[in-house]
Amino acid sequence: MPASPTRNLVTGGAGFVGSHLVDRLMEAGEEVLCLDNYFTGRKENIARWIGHPRFELIRHDVTEPIRLEVDHIWHLACPASPIHYQHNPIKTAKTSFLGTANMLGLARRVGARLLLASTSEVYGDPEVHPQPESYRGSVNTHGIRACYDEGKRVAETLCFDYQRVHGVEIRVARIFNTYGPRMLPDDGRVVSNFIVQALRGEPLTLYGEGAQTRSFCYVDDLVEGLVRLMNGAHPGPINIGNPGEFTIRQLAELVRAAINPSLPFTTQPLPQDDPLQRQPVIDLARTELGWEPTIPLQQGLESTIADFRARLEVAP
Ligand SMILES: NC(=O)c1ccc[n+]([C@@H]2O[C@H](COP(=O)([O-])OP(=O)(O)OC[C@H]3O[C@@H](n4cnc5c(N)ncnc54)[C@H](O)[C@@H]3O)[C@@H](O)[C@H]2O)c1
Repeated sequence: MPASPTRNLVTGGAGFVGSHLVDRLMEAGEEVLCLDNYFTGRKENIARWIGHPRFELIRHDVTEPIRLEVDHIWHLACPASPIHYQHNPIKTAKTSFLGTANMLGLARRVGARLLLASTSEVYGDPEVHPQPESYRGSVNTHGIRACYDEGKRVAETLCFDYQRVHGVEIRVARIFNTYGPRMLPDDGRVVSNFIVQALRGEPLTLYGEGAQTRSFCYVDDLVEGLVRLMNGAHPGPINIGNPGEFTIRQLAELVRAAINPSLPFTTQPLPQDDPLQRQPVIDLARTELGWEPTIPLQQGLESTIADFRARLEVAP
């Protein structure tokens, strides 16, 4: 008899990263249970799989327990953009803490391996640059970003305690800024902000002087890293991100050049606790997973802009 396909639970599977992961798993012939409460996820993102015999859609909130039979749990459920996670910060903290505890409980019961989508935000506003996994971070525990940053830190803690106490197999990915098709147009993230403003013919808003730096990883590169982490032997935490560092102004210039070079910039004050620098050290991903990003920013921006153009129905 042929081996039965791996049964995957993807929490947050209707979201931006989750839906690309669902595509990847479905294309590999695996079974996918996509679980989402549709806070920031959209059915359109996974519409192509609805009705497929290897695909199931479950409307559920991870803050409540659930019983399912699965082999791999990809735990992505959590709003990722500040606008969304600050909308109901107590719910965000609960999603990270209770949601991760529930998914680890499930992993323990059925003997599944769980991958947590953690974040570079666990490094806070870093005093160490660039950030290796050994850097313990500088997070403001009571700032407006803490519901997310500290939520993910405690989610990591839960993973390692479930591993130590109950022997649950865990994989922890520290994901850095990721962009690509299916980002929400109104999510306040810098790539989508610039693209939407440029497509609408509006000035591009820089916070501060736009001198703060970020790294931008294309979503297909990220998904490849997550798949290698899940299937590899290292529990993490492992940074998954693109070490290419750009200032926000450079990003704005690239987007402007691709859409409408005549658009002006405007400036706004820097938001509270906005980190000034963020760049991953990916040596561990290179050695343990044989992974590094392959898609340059300009190329990734092209497909992202094309997707936004189609959704906003702007003629090229
Ligand atoms: N995109 C990035 O740059 C980035 C960076 C670091 C970490 N991450 C992490 O990756 C994961 C996915 O991020 P994304 O960019 O796809 O965000 P997203 O907001 O598009 O996706 C999150 C998904 O989780 C769902 N969700 C939220 N709360 C839920 C709950 N309580 N129960 C069930 N479903 C719930 C949302 O509806 C959505 O579909 C998140 O855990 C995020 O923290 C993303």
